[in-house]
Amino acid sequence: MVKINTCVFISGKGSNLKNLIIHSRNKSFPIKISLVISNNKKAYGINYAKKFKIPFIFINTRLKNYENKILFNFKKYNISFICLAGYMKIISNNLIKKYKRKIINIHPSLLPKFKGLNTFSRMLKNNEKKGGCTVHYVNKKLDSGSTIIQKSFIINKKDNELSLKKKTQKLEYKAYPEAIIKIFKKS
Ligand code: GRF
Repeated sequence: MVKINTCVFISGKGSNLKNLIIHSRNKSFPIKISLVISNNKKAYGINYAKKFKIPFIFINTRLKNYENKILFNFKKYNISFICLAGYMKIISNNLIKKYKRKIINIHPSLLPKFKGLNTFSRMLKNNEKKGGCTVHYVNKKLDSGSTIIQKSFIINKKDNELSLKKKTQKLEYKAYPEAIIKIFKKS
């Protein structure tokens, strides 16, 4: 089976990156993580790239030509699929056009509810009954591309931001690999 060369974008902890790397080592998993890109030099997730010997680069999104660096490396590593995993920057329209329906993201809410940041505090304020995560295609509008997979859990009265985050991430580690399998089963 020929695996799809994939780039994962991160900004922080990288637990989803770690999970995807582990899944990708399975022969039947459709993608190979061939490159990791971080906009944050201090991102803990870079340690997983190092540990699993995956090439990684840093980008500075404040520089005008940062996108050239991305495109140069996409070419170098023959990247044809992109996973955002806790990447805290907006992907440019140019990249979105070039990689139409090839960029996916994981978001810690049941989209279209709670797009953007601070999802857990807003969910609590709103007395939500359900939490969850969504894997979706990335388009020009923030957290608005079509959904690939959603997983949910019931929120109880004792839940706080931390417990919601833990419950959500537990589901994310299932949802992200499942979404990738689903995409490449279709094509
Ligand atoms: C995840 O909860 C994801 O939903 C959101 O950012 C978080 C990243 O966590 N987009 P990690 O860096 O993968 O641990």
